[in-house]
Amino acid sequence: MNRSGRFSFAGLAHERASVMASGQKAGPIKIRLQAVTRSFGAVIPVRNLTLDVDTGERIALIGPSGAGKTTLLRLINGALEPDSGTVDVDGHRWGGSRSRDRDMRSRIGVVYQHFNLVPSLSVVRNVQAGKLGQLPALLAVWKFLMPETREIAPILRKFGIEEKIHERTERISGGEQQRAAIARAMFQDPDIMLADEPIASVDPGLSQLIIDTLNAWSVEKGSTLIVSLHQVEFARNNFGRLIGLRDGKIRFDTAPSNVTAAMLEDLYEKERLVDGTG
Ligand SMILES: Nc1ncnc2c1ncn2[C@@H]1O[C@H](COP(=O)(O)OP(=O)(O)OP(=O)(O)O)[C@@H](O)[C@H]1O
Ligand SMILES: [Mg+2]
Repeated sequence: MNRSGRFSFAGLAHERASVMASGQKAGPIKIRLQAVTRSFGAVIPVRNLTLDVDTGERIALIGPSGAGKTTLLRLINGALEPDSGTVDVDGHRWGGSRSRDRDMRSRIGVVYQHFNLVPSLSVVRNVQAGKLGQLPALLAVWKFLMPETREIAPILRKFGIEEKIHERTERISGGEQQRAAIARAMFQDPDIMLADEPIASVDPGLSQLIIDTLNAWSVEKGSTLIVSLHQVEFARNNFGRLIGLRDGKIRFDTAPSNVTAAMLEDLYEKERLVDGTG
């Protein structure tokens, strides 16, 4: 990645080499949250949270419903402003300049928990939409009218939905929509991918395919990947760093081998009490 934020193979090769040399953490700090608090009225989904994520890290964010996972991801991508504290992404602080915010946003791919696809548009147009924000207006209109089908088809193929490429998105299944949403974020070719529950709507086999594809993409590009998950075993088996979030606070932030049954019980205690199984 060069200074203008555009993709460069030389920069990529350098980043990838440094990621691989050290295994986990590598390169400069890419995402830094310092003492971030965000509330909605009386609800405080993120409380005084401090977090550093380095370039190329692959992280699973786990925690019960309402823990603040989506809110945290939205703070990182600048969709939400903190009440207090600071969020920096690759040295950029949100809210300073609209054009710099837009540039940074184009470098962050987001897989939304509820997909945020346009139902009346074809799959290929939805995927193409991932890239439109990076383009000048006229070119964006052109690409929207004439999507890059040849480039998009192989991404859909990875996820087993190539034959749906021209289907209206509202006509495909929830699991297919989930994969189309991931394809859209990948087609954007971002430096950072934030995937909010990207396997919520698919069966275990497809879940593994999706996580493998995201991880392989991150390794190949040297890109940072943060995935929120409810499937704890998936998180443990597929990510080198697990962050446990509850009540807007980080309960643990460590390698999966350090996460004990007691730590998981502590993380999910409220859910067990609520559903009566605890
Ligand atoms: N825009 C909003 N307005 C009001 N409350 C909100 C808003 N966004 C989030 N919240 C509240 O903040 C809390 C945390 O929500 P968040 O979506 O971050 O949780 P989560 O960990 O992603 O949960 P889930 O696993 O169910 O997706 C919840 O109590 C939620 O109702
Ligand atoms: Mg959520």
